[in-house]
Amino acid sequence: MERKGFYITTPIFYPNANLHMGHAFNTVICDIWARHHRLQGDATYFLTGSDDNTGKIFKAAKQANKDIPEYLTNIHEEFKKLYVDLNISYDQFISTSDQKVHWPGATKFWNALSEAGDIYPGVYEGLYCASCEAFYTEKDLINGNCPIHGTEPEKINEKNYFFRLSKYADKIKEKILSKEFEIVSESRKNEMLAFIDRGLEDVSFSRPKSVVPHGIPVPGDPEQVIYVWCDALVNYVSALGYGEVIHPNFDKFWPADMHVVGKDISRFHTLLWPGMLLSAGLPLPKKVVVHGLIISGGKKMSKSIGNVIDPKDLINEYGRDALRYFLAREVSITEDSDVTLESFKNSYNGNLANGLGNLVSRVMKMATAYEVAISSEDKRETYLTESIPENYNDNLHNFEIKKCIDHIWERINGLDEYIQQTEPYKKIKTDETLAKNIVEDLVTRVWAVGKLLQPFMPDTAKEIIKATEAGNLPPSLFPRKD
Ligand code: MSP
Repeated sequence: MERKGFYITTPIFYPNANLHMGHAFNTVICDIWARHHRLQGDATYFLTGSDDNTGKIFKAAKQANKDIPEYLTNIHEEFKKLYVDLNISYDQFISTSDQKVHWPGATKFWNALSEAGDIYPGVYEGLYCASCEAFYTEKDLINGNCPIHGTEPEKINEKNYFFRLSKYADKIKEKILSKEFEIVSESRKNEMLAFIDRGLEDVSFSRPKSVVPHGIPVPGDPEQVIYVWCDALVNYVSALGYGEVIHPNFDKFWPADMHVVGKDISRFHTLLWPGMLLSAGLPLPKKVVVHGLIISGGKKMSKSIGNVIDPKDLINEYGRDALRYFLAREVSITEDSDVTLESFKNSYNGNLANGLGNLVSRVMKMATAYEVAISSEDKRETYLTESIPENYNDNLHNFEIKKCIDHIWERINGLDEYIQQTEPYKKIKTDETLAKNIVEDLVTRVWAVGKLLQPFMPDTAKEIIKATEAGNLPPSLFPRKD
């Protein structure tokens, strides 16, 4: 029997440059959740994509000497290549330049807001950071600069349409407090509540067509295009067919179970998006998980700032599961994490080469040499479940991915100790039956580790399960790096 649907989304990424470690982090943790739910038997839908209708693309395409469609096709391919390299099990890649899939949804959404009386014309006079694609007030700035990019925002004065977000402030607050709409973590939730208490203002919701010529036209006013954040947020429903007459995916998967976003874009997801959905008469997502940022040298890792680590380099040198492991365990979900190549290498050598890789190879060498097979299926299941902490699944359902991997590594370290204490490689000479029993136990417990690793490190998990079940030596898993 099919169990409930589980719908999880990454943000859609700006395609003005290739994806970096920050994006890889977001995507890998979403992938872990998606894989976990699939393994639990939930009908899972995992969406990711590209946020194309922004002024930045204009510049990036020009620099690359390409027209916009050609530029976008290329960079979408680059995104997808990285997803393959990272083993991301997404179900759909949406791009907001897709006039067939996305535009009807965006247009329908705009019309719904307009019919609710929540769109009105006005003049926007104020500040705009093109890197954030966000309007700022003086009080948001730090020393007159954008709080995220440290660059001076542009002053703009233009005729826009506005969205009446202020009307929904109380309702959004109510839904957050009742947990009908959950913001994870608690401190991010409190930040957003404080934000509502300071007063939610209406939001400028369109830009002149001259600024973003490839944007989605405002219905009824071809001189204006839909503001890129309104356009982008709608991807979560347009991808499911919201703009179409018949939309089985929308019926099955909306409201989303989890939007996973960085703290720099939490306001858009926890205030603006719920306001838009309330106006359009649609249910709110169940949960927005807000994660911290990967920083490098004290600053957000960012294409605009220019301090990026390319995930492809790490995959080429260490393998994709090593990168997935690092992102899931060594990068904090709630706080910012400073990532360096050195911290990556130390973690790799310590926990993967000397830890997991070494354990699997030692155990399977003994198993093949002494011709020991894995235990019965019953015993395997017992070993798999017996020492799982009670809240393991809850942790995985929430945002405590790290605690789950910590548990797996407790098992790995425990098995190393067990080998040290029992010394089956010595006992084989004095008490063969006992030594073989110990090794059978070890093989079965290593198999359980492989099972637990499935959502986190799918390739490694597969190799471990295959080798332990067949009684073969696995390929060298994580060779030490000097
Ligand atoms: N296009 C918007 C999102 C629209 S969603 C309706 C956007 N794109 S982005 O490419 O700038 O960022 C996408 C995601 O990557 C965000 O969640 C952002 O927090 C995340 N990250 C970008 N840099 C990051 C780090 N250095 N560290 C962790 N995540 C980071 O915003």
